[in-house]
Amino acid sequence: MKVKPPLPQGDEKKRLVQEMFDDIAPTYEKANRIISFGLDKRHRRIALNELRASPGSTILDFACGTGDFTRMLTALNINSISCDLSFGMLNNGYDIPNPIQCDGTKLPLKKDSVDGVVCGYSLRNFVDLHGAFEEIFRVLKPGARFVALDITVPKNRIIKFFNQLWFARIAPKLGWLISKNKDAYEYLPRSTSYLPEGEVISKQLETVGAENISISPLVLGSLILICATKEKTSTTTGMT
Ligand SMILES: C[S@@+](CC[C@H](N)C(=O)[O-])C[C@H]1O[C@@H](n2cnc3c(N)ncnc32)[C@H](O)[C@@H]1O
Repeated sequence: MKVKPPLPQGDEKKRLVQEMFDDIAPTYEKANRIISFGLDKRHRRIALNELRASPGSTILDFACGTGDFTRMLTALNINSISCDLSFGMLNNGYDIPNPIQCDGTKLPLKKDSVDGVVCGYSLRNFVDLHGAFEEIFRVLKPGARFVALDITVPKNRIIKFFNQLWFARIAPKLGWLISKNKDAYEYLPRSTSYLPEGEVISKQLETVGAENISISPLVLGSLILICATKEKTSTTTGMT
């Protein structure tokens, strides 16, 4: 059996992630729809329900990619600010209203400035997840919500077997066919191992001023939904 090289860490991971998403950007949404059997929209709707954002409010689509969540927010008459590391992803979405190319751990936004943050399938791609949470909870207004979706590996052995057959064996080949980038679609299922266990995520969120934290499995444990609220009396520091 071919031994896979270790996953990249630190600056090498950040460079690889940026290059990879720049490269697969033109076919990213098409591959997502096929690999998820079109269910990714449904999961995004569940996440947006949890965000409880009102029309007219301003939501940060954090690591927005091609703007799938941004588009759904616009359809709900919610204002959006959308940030991502990859120029390719930002330019291959629809016309994203307020795009910002930046590292999510260094947001050019004021403290307590947004009414909510949504993040789809991106947390595991961060080199510094705690730094990402710090920034998210710095820019959130006190009492505002953070909701994130990400991919995980189911705990149940039978479900895990079928999940891995699809996500680690068949889906990468489909992704390769669609995007012509073999390495990217081999990396994506392996990248689930970057995401810490739920308890660790909860602890990290608590340290940045989150409360009412819930981490729930979706789709038989192949996805997680993370929800939290910024404490009303939060004392986060940073750019004002
Ligand atoms: C799997 S895509 C998800 C895109 C989008 N959120 C969605 O729901 O489809 C992961 C995204 O995270 C972005 N990303 C990774 N590391 C980042 C960082 N440090 N700062 C900002 N964006 C980052 C990538 O460029 C990529 O667009």
